[in-house]
Amino acid sequence: MNTSLTITRPDDWHLHLRDGPMLAAVAPHSARLGRAIMMPNLVPPVVTGAEAAAYRQRILTALPPGATLRPLMTLYLTETTDPADVLAAHAAGLIAAVKLYPAGATTNSASGVRDFDRVRGVLEAMAGAGIPLCVHGEVTDPAVDIFDREAVFLDRVLEPIRRRTPGLRVVMEHITTAEGVDYVASQQDMGATITTHHLVINRNHILVGGIRPHYYCLPVAKRESHRLALRRAATSGDPRYFLGTDSAPHPDRAKESACGCAGCFTAPNTLSILAQVFEDEGA
Ligand code: DOR
Ligand code: ZN
Repeated sequence: MNTSLTITRPDDWHLHLRDGPMLAAVAPHSARLGRAIMMPNLVPPVVTGAEAAAYRQRILTALPPGATLRPLMTLYLTETTDPADVLAAHAAGLIAAVKLYPAGATTNSASGVRDFDRVRGVLEAMAGAGIPLCVHGEVTDPAVDIFDREAVFLDRVLEPIRRRTPGLRVVMEHITTAEGVDYVASQQDMGATITTHHLVINRNHILVGGIRPHYYCLPVAKRESHRLALRRAATSGDPRYFLGTDSAPHPDRAKESACGCAGCFTAPNTLSILAQVFEDEGA
């Protein structure tokens, strides 16, 4: 019988380490990773190449001795982002990708994009230079039910952007639906991240028997059939689906609140949870 399990050093393609005292507290939990894509939704957000370089230094300072983590930085896309700054930051090796938050979609997204036409120039420049766009894929239209916001985003926003920006490399981040899985499977030149928590919880875990705020994140977990579709994709071996934990710490007082923050802090337990998922799936 097998009694030992060797796990390849994992990369995390979507991670929130925050800043200041929170960064100092959570960074050690991600120190043994390989590479990790750092989310730029600080307050204020990481918008320029210079800000990304400074944030990278603060992350390196927060890591314990012997850490293997290599932070890969991202820029927070705004309607006034300068394409030249993005290209220069990428050419200098300061950033690996640019992050698109629809304004109002999630935590610290107020500086995100309202009118997607206004970022066309940046996206075209990125397509030319091969810079990936990491996408928080939810519409913010109040008329759209929160459980439908990802599926509607695919048709209403992502598909038009990809059609008019050929060659743009896109990562649909933290997919939570069978529609997200199927969309990625039907496309060339794009991938998707899947979080740890969306492989193990569905919306019942948040809402049945009392509200459990530590399971609340965005995109919110969907019904069980979607969780099963995510597990099949994650364990399929198809390289278009990869890990982005979206480990997103908030203070307890901000989670356990009448208006609680979105985010699941999974970094300390991610690998053991994933080992369980893969064993359960025989993968
Ligand atoms: O649940 C989430 N938390 N989803 C996001 O998109 C942002 C994140 C955060 O920064 O807390
Ligand atoms: Zn995130």
